[in-house]
Amino acid sequence: MAGGEKNIWIIANWKSNKTIAEALDWVSTVGPQIPKQENLKVVVCSTFTALSEVKKAITVGNFPLMVGSQDLSSFGVGAYTGEVAAELLKDLVGFSILGHSERRQNFKEDDEMIAKKVVQALQNNITPLVCVQGPEILVPGGCKLVAYEPTFAIGTGNPDTPENANQVASILKEKYGQDLEVIYGGSVTSQNAKSFIVQPNLAGFLIGKASLDAMEFVKIIKECEEF
Ligand code: PGA
Repeated sequence: MAGGEKNIWIIANWKSNKTIAEALDWVSTVGPQIPKQENLKVVVCSTFTALSEVKKAITVGNFPLMVGSQDLSSFGVGAYTGEVAAELLKDLVGFSILGHSERRQNFKEDDEMIAKKVVQALQNNITPLVCVQGPEILVPGGCKLVAYEPTFAIGTGNPDTPENANQVASILKEKYGQDLEVIYGGSVTSQNAKSFIVQPNLAGFLIGKASLDAMEFVKIIKECEEF
């Protein structure tokens, strides 16, 4: 299948999971099975600890797989203990998940901090993937890729309906421009992926739990391949 018009983003969010050995296992299983298709954009967002090895394995295997981080610092390089600056990440990642609800809840990240992180990402050629929990959440300027992730759907096995996700995407696009790409996240599996991807305003997925299992992740890719 040649592939359709719209981009299909399939983005794995491993959260705080996978040793380096487990990460490399995953890459060696998933990498060779990703179809080389122009509009299919597969990204793995590993922990900071595995980024370097994951990146190396992808380069050696020449897999059509891109790498992202799950966060980055709102500051530049300098005296910020525990932080990882975008400038230090830019050789390893092309993407960064910013403003995930788990960070908003557990680390008290607010819109202002997330906007600063977006600036850091953009200054360092890292594409920010900002997570919004509803259409009312602010998308910072310069952000062209957004994940709609309602908190009730995250890790619960209770996804939003494809129709509602499509509606939220439509509102976001009206607000921020039709070139905004909106993906959906929250209990996505190989069973429900197709029902979301057929929605005209949705351009893919941010996948947590189901991305940890390499074979399940490959199944999701295969479900989306023809769009
Ligand atoms: P889930 O997580 O797929 O496990 O629901 C999605 C996310 O939090 O990005």
